[in-house]
Amino acid sequence: MALLIRGGRIITPTEDYTGDIYAEDEKITRIEPRIDDKLVAAGAEIVDARGKYVFPGFIDPHVHIYLPFMGTYAADDYESASKAALAGGTTTLIEMICPGATDEPVAAFELWKSKAEKLAAVDYTFHMSVVRFEEHIRDQFREIVKAGVASFKVFLAYKGALNLSDEHLFAAMKLAKELGVIVTAHCENADAIDALQKSLLAAGKTGPEWHGPSRPPIVEADGVHHLCTFAELLGTHVYIVHTSCEAAVHQALAARKRGVNVWIESVIPHFVLDETYVERGGFEGAKYVMSPPLRAKSNQTVLWNGVKSRDISTIGTDHAPFRFGDQKNMGTDAFTKIPNGIPSIQERVDLVHTCGVAANRLGLQVMVDACSTQAAKLFGLYPRKGAIQLGSDADLVVYDPSYRGKFSKECSHSNVDYNAYEGWERRGRASVVAVRGQVQARDGEFVGTIGRGQFLKRDPTH
Ligand code: URP
Ligand code: ZN
Ligand code: ZN
Repeated sequence: MALLIRGGRIITPTEDYTGDIYAEDEKITRIEPRIDDKLVAAGAEIVDARGKYVFPGFIDPHVHIYLPFMGTYAADDYESASKAALAGGTTTLIEMICPGATDEPVAAFELWKSKAEKLAAVDYTFHMSVVRFEEHIRDQFREIVKAGVASFKVFLAYKGALNLSDEHLFAAMKLAKELGVIVTAHCENADAIDALQKSLLAAGKTGPEWHGPSRPPIVEADGVHHLCTFAELLGTHVYIVHTSCEAAVHQALAARKRGVNVWIESVIPHFVLDETYVERGGFEGAKYVMSPPLRAKSNQTVLWNGVKSRDISTIGTDHAPFRFGDQKNMGTDAFTKIPNGIPSIQERVDLVHTCGVAANRLGLQVMVDACSTQAAKLFGLYPRKGAIQLGSDADLVVYDPSYRGKFSKECSHSNVDYNAYEGWERRGRASVVAVRGQVQARDGEFVGTIGRGQFLKRDPTH
């Protein structure tokens, strides 16, 4: 079915104008000040966007949906995650494939893909985690890249689980350079964290409030420096995920000054939540345990300003949903057993609009760039995604900036029993969300088709 979006204020990173957008066969086919009624197919869906913004569909470059982690599994599947994403204006997800240490990479890729195929209502692709890199599995990574996954993920953290040895890290980054794929990286020094965790627990410091002290900013900055050193030696392009603090941003920018091709992602919890949330009593703080941890408030200004100056390329979520009632509480006797993650897939765009744009920290065009276009460009999806151009996929968000409401668990489609932003004032909402020309969400409710999401094959671009 054709889709006509009439009279909206169309916002891209480089443009801001009023006009009509018409889509047929899943693509944008016309963008004009006023599209003649005669050109509109009978039965076309017509959306009145007057007084509203029209954004390219938002892209979340860092989510976990199927995630075996810390003795449990993340609580969403592609159905709940898609509904939550779409309700919040996100039309494309990039999920991390996180296999176990003994899993075969190709089998992991097939498994993760199978989880998405029947249930996704958004388009999706993956970053392929390299959790070990022996010679004999090298060809499997080549095969995965050929199959359309043009980015790797490495963990410098999570000793004994996802963490990669330096020998394997170096070899994986060398292959990435050869194949032209970017390496996304969780940068925290695993051994330092392990030692700090052990000494805190030995001192009886077991509550969620000790999670932050077990991984201070310097541990993250060290990880960033380490990754960038390898990138400098090898010429590999790297993307630091969930950069949380001034010290880590500083290291990445210093590396960039030395000529390293490094990009920075930060994720929404670090912009709006600070360490005091994890310090809440009665185990409430467990809801806010993620890694890197929530930081001192002063870091938030650094992150917002970094986005504004475009030093920070993207704002993702690191959506990693674990229920409070029966998952987070696995760590009542030791903070090291609390599954890490703060679900935010539905709230990201509205939080950026509410706490960024409406609070005069960011402009609308920067918001679009950071929440959509940059991810498309960095990960080989542009201009199919992240753009409002003729020929682009008709992934479009009609956004009502005058909407007023509250963030709440009741509004959330994610399979979790809490909302980290419960009761916060919300300014703005996606009124209509289309994926490839079909409306999939309206006013926070899913109205689309489960299983319609497509796997996005990506070519190496680095
Ligand atoms: O706390 C987090 N970030 N959980 C998900 C796993 C990861 O490190 O991305
Ligand atoms: Zn991580
Ligand atoms: Zn993550």
